[in-house]
Amino acid sequence: MDHAIKDIEKIEFEQPGLLKRVLKTAVINPFANYMPSGMLKALLRHGNSELAAANWKDPGGWRSMVISYEGNPEKFADRLLVNGGTVPMALRNRRRLGAHLLAELIDSSKSNPVHALCLGAGPGRIIIDAMSKAKSDCHATLVDLNSDAFEYGKKIASEANLADKVRFIQADVRDIDSLLEDPPDVVKMIGICEYLTDDQIVEIVTATAKVMPAGAAIVFNSISKAHGTDRFFRRVFGLNMNHRSPAQLQALIGQAGFGDFNATAEPLGVYHVVVGRKTDA
Ligand SMILES: C[S@@+](CC[C@H](N)C(=O)[O-])C[C@H]1O[C@@H](n2cnc3c(N)ncnc32)[C@H](O)[C@@H]1O
Repeated sequence: MDHAIKDIEKIEFEQPGLLKRVLKTAVINPFANYMPSGMLKALLRHGNSELAAANWKDPGGWRSMVISYEGNPEKFADRLLVNGGTVPMALRNRRRLGAHLLAELIDSSKSNPVHALCLGAGPGRIIIDAMSKAKSDCHATLVDLNSDAFEYGKKIASEANLADKVRFIQADVRDIDSLLEDPPDVVKMIGICEYLTDDQIVEIVTATAKVMPAGAAIVFNSISKAHGTDRFFRRVFGLNMNHRSPAQLQALIGQAGFGDFNATAEPLGVYHVVVGRKTDA
């Protein structure tokens, strides 16, 4: 299989300059990681941080993703976090890389229309970006346990003229075999594995593999500790992410009959986006 990713150099990734990198390593990250968490929480509360409030309500939920993806918050505290923080910047890079890879998979599929299945989809920001970029016709089924994101998802789909191409389903993705009308050509699992245990990941991909034809693609991401702020996220946002290498995730997802993996890093090295294929077996 040809693994070359076309036009990756055209993706407009974000990267901090040298001075910002030095400041982060020497000042900002130690401050965030080691100042008393009560003081940091009080500062964020006082600054009416929407990102902090979203994480306290639903750690790592879809709303905090959207605030980082958009990168244009109103509150000063959020501007500091969203524009200066490594994870929000890496999340925007992951959004662009994920959308690029998914658009390529949609365009290289032989199906017409292509069916994309999004697991733990939230509002579907990345698949909507991908469908907007792709030339081929595509419809998407977006599944999430939490339906809070669907109203916002319908709004962004309609802004992209894709309202009639997306279907939102509130369900547990482990029940996927009873939910689909037609098999997926591409499965997207971006922004979910880092919040799941190994057993949960294997359970989800095993259920998903049953509805996928051989050769169908799966797209997921790993997260590394390269962001340097895990201690901050745990203490201040209550966010306990599971950091795994692409190889560790591939080994887990491989247990459900996937292979032929190809991992691409965004430039901050925080996220890899991995494409795999359902094998014949
Ligand atoms: C961090 S959000 C990511 C949303 C979106 N994928 C993105 O990247 O913006 C993770 C989502 O996974 C959903 N989720 C977690 N476990 C799930 C399950 N077993 N079935 C369906 N959705 C699940 C959560 O409700 C949440 O909306």
